[in-house]
Amino acid sequence: MEKSPEILDSLGDWRRSHNCGELDKNHVGERVLLAGWVLRRRDHGGLIFVDLRDRWGITQVVFNPDRDPQPHRKAEDIRSEYVIAVRGEVMERPAGMVNPDLSTGEIEIFVDEMKLLNTSLTPPFPIDEREGKDTAESVRLKYRYLDLRRETLRENMVLRSRVSQFAREFLCREGFLEIETPFLTKSTPEGARDFLVPSRIQPGSMYALPQSPQLFKQLLMVAGFDRYFQVVHCFRDEDLRADRQPEFTQIDAEMSFTDEDGILQIMERMISGIFHCALGVEIPTPFPRLTYSEAIDRFGLDRPDTRFGMELVDLSDVLARTEARVFTETVRNGGIIKALTLKGGGVLSRKDLDDLTGFVGIYGAKGLAWFKSNPNGWQSPLAKFIGEEERGEVSRRASFGEGDLLLVVAGVPSMVNESLGQLRVHLGEKFGLIPEGRLDFLWIVEFPLFEFDKQEGRFSSLHHPFTSPMDEDLPLLETDPGRVRARAYDMVLNGSEIGGGSIRIHREDIQARVFELLKIGEEEAREKFGFLLDALKYGAPPHGGIAFGLDRILMILAGTDSIRDVIAFPKTQKASCLLTGAPGPVEGSQLLELGLRLRRA
Ligand code: AMO
Repeated sequence: MEKSPEILDSLGDWRRSHNCGELDKNHVGERVLLAGWVLRRRDHGGLIFVDLRDRWGITQVVFNPDRDPQPHRKAEDIRSEYVIAVRGEVMERPAGMVNPDLSTGEIEIFVDEMKLLNTSLTPPFPIDEREGKDTAESVRLKYRYLDLRRETLRENMVLRSRVSQFAREFLCREGFLEIETPFLTKSTPEGARDFLVPSRIQPGSMYALPQSPQLFKQLLMVAGFDRYFQVVHCFRDEDLRADRQPEFTQIDAEMSFTDEDGILQIMERMISGIFHCALGVEIPTPFPRLTYSEAIDRFGLDRPDTRFGMELVDLSDVLARTEARVFTETVRNGGIIKALTLKGGGVLSRKDLDDLTGFVGIYGAKGLAWFKSNPNGWQSPLAKFIGEEERGEVSRRASFGEGDLLLVVAGVPSMVNESLGQLRVHLGEKFGLIPEGRLDFLWIVEFPLFEFDKQEGRFSSLHHPFTSPMDEDLPLLETDPGRVRARAYDMVLNGSEIGGGSIRIHREDIQARVFELLKIGEEEAREKFGFLLDALKYGAPPHGGIAFGLDRILMILAGTDSIRDVIAFPKTQKASCLLTGAPGPVEGSQLLELGLRLRRA
């Protein structure tokens, strides 16, 4: 039988004097007590070196058999991830042995006493793997507590704590109150599906987990709190993407007696403060503002990545004058034709072009027309249909020259913009057109208040139904709702929507008009939002607010493209937690208590 190692039960006088990240040359000669995990053990057939790790860093500890044989014998048995405490003296490392990558790299500890605090099974993956890419993510998520020991994830969690702390302090200084709002509540209309929680006390009734604290924060303004914030979990049952989780965190805020400028200015200061605190960079304010329609015209998306050019150009009028039927018919049917130029893209193969056609197909494009400009003329299946005059005009407008590739999509405007907008980002990433290290912040303003939902045959809110229309567009509410612009704003960073908000409707009559337009009947409005409508009758102040996606901001700060890297216990693409096994079955008796019965699928 293997001898069981001697484990120290209670720390007694083995409480540490320092952490593993703080000792340097100034401590040389001091006696210290460190505790932590064994990251690596190297036996040099005499000296044993251990990299001792804790949350703060790594310190090299040395066991020398000539100096202290007893701890050296103990060190022979320790393995990766054992938890140990060591007493010893801080020594300066010999010249040439200094590790400039470690804050403690100039020193090491010569151990004269060691205690084992706990053993560990061999971890299913090495903890010193920085990126963690060599291990399947499913394994890392199952053993998340081990994965979180990895330096990268640990740094991300430290960053997360610093950023939310900064936001809290900033907002408190600006007079915002941190007030919690309920999780067991009624549906909030942010456009996703709700997570429902059945009530035991009222069988057959359900709570909804909040998609955001939207209605409560408005009620807090009616209550007179003037400035509210919360770093808060939100729950949305939607299909997951690389930057979406079913539960995520917002820095949520609301303010009274203010307008767009008041909110945008304060929030720009908070965001630039966050980036300064996390990365040490100065972000100039105010951030540029772009209207929604300009963003769509130039970039195809309402969250444009402005770090690179390759803007979209409208060629509808020119190409409608050609002989190419796809173009002439599109324009005759009220569609548009837009294009972008990939500089030097003339070298792309047929296979590359087929792949790009497949890419735009995801967004509904029926095809992707392409043109190459060679020294002896244009090359394209459609080239013969385009006359000299049109070629000249296209080349001028799209900066399309020799060696370049022109990619064209024709069809209904929303599809053309979206598919080319996505294609632009795809090409930018694929061909390395996006400069590293650049941070392009901007506001998108003047969103449409409504979008027309063809399936439902009615308008729906682009943000949420409490968003105020722009004053000058109020008369259009009944005559031309599609043209009404909202007092809404999104903050975009490097093509990612990191926050969004609006000035709210604070008058009950206007809220009722908007509900009417959304075909939310009086009865439904009462049932769903009666409490808000009532509150608006009791002296609601003018107010507005915003919510930032904390996880998305952290993704950018940490330089990762997976939202899971910045959340301690994230869910998979299938919305499950591999660590706990949630969601999972429940006991029949629990269902019974809730008055529920499962139907066999
Ligand atoms: P909105 O729905 O735009 O606004 O959400 C605000 C910000 O939250 C982030 N976000 C998400 N992050 C991760 N996973 C998700 N599933 C997810 N969904 C949204 C985005 C987004 O910009 N109540 C309004 C705010 C307001 O009007 O004040 C709201 O929730 O970064």
